Amino acid sequence: MTPTSACACANVALAKYWGKRDERLNLPWTGSISVTLAGLETRVEMRAAAGGDDVIRFDGEPARPAEATRVSRFLDLVRLAARSRERAEVDVRSNFPVAAGLASSASTFAALALAAARAYGLVLNHAALSALARRGSGSAARSLQGGFVEWLPGTDPDGNDSFAVQLAGPEHWDLGIAVAITDEGQKKIGSREGMAIAVKQSPFFRAWLETHGADMEAIRRGIGARDLDLVGETAEHNCLKMHAASIAARPALLYWTPATLAVMHRVHALRDEGLPVYFTIDAGPQVKVLCRGADRAEVVEQLARVPGVLRVLPSAPGPGAEVSSPQ
Ligand code: DP6
Repeated sequence: MTPTSACACANVALAKYWGKRDERLNLPWTGSISVTLAGLETRVEMRAAAGGDDVIRFDGEPARPAEATRVSRFLDLVRLAARSRERAEVDVRSNFPVAAGLASSASTFAALALAAARAYGLVLNHAALSALARRGSGSAARSLQGGFVEWLPGTDPDGNDSFAVQLAGPEHWDLGIAVAITDEGQKKIGSREGMAIAVKQSPFFRAWLETHGADMEAIRRGIGARDLDLVGETAEHNCLKMHAASIAARPALLYWTPATLAVMHRVHALRDEGLPVYFTIDAGPQVKVLCRGADRAEVVEQLARVPGVLRVLPSAPGPGAEVSSPQ
């Protein structure tokens, strides 16, 4: 095995992936569109393991059994394709709160797919690499590329046509992004379990599916035209529909805390005052706010003052994943 290190950024969905038509292959019911988040990075380092098992560490600590199994099962896919039985020692480090609604699984499995393909000597084109990352976590399919990215849902039962493509590079649009962290803890119900509950137990899931295509189309158009109001208004609406469908499930999926709501209200108030700002929220309590690049510092400062906000991470459309030399 070639010792390899790879780095990938998190992403935030503007039109969300929420619901699978195939849980084993991570095949979505709908397409989704995201922006890759500069500065929110996960680095994966891989080398051959000394013993007969994979050794997985997150931020220097041994992975919990469920996490270790998920990574090992993913490596099994790569080993199968590479006809290798070699076990790996894997170090995963993120510079932002993991498993708290900040899509850490996206950057983790994008970096892991890239590192593992290289380490085991698999030569994959972009579509195949994205489809591989998807097997680890659906949203990871979108974190291999920078800027604005669309994940195509595909129709093949085997998922070979379900991968992400870049709509525009990070330089296309000076979009400002501010991530308001309201809770550093791990969420109780992760996206995987949450979306499975929403698919089966929400009377509003059908409405979510039926109206998603129009949001995709508007966001695609808005990105092309760098139209913050169109992208922001549609992304906010799409996020609220995802949460409405989830809140109406049994058991109810309520990812918001009082601080999450306080940020949402603050965003609306700032908008009423004339500042073009829009929020989106994934399966967790953090709020991502979209604004003009020139307004980002002001927005970060405003959000930092909202009661319950622990800190605000400034971001922007970020780069694609990259292989680098191990450090
Ligand atoms: C709300 O990609 O974490 O962030 O495929 O089961 O690993 P799995 O789910 P995951 O779900 C992300 C859901 C979301 C919306 C999105 O990123 O599109």
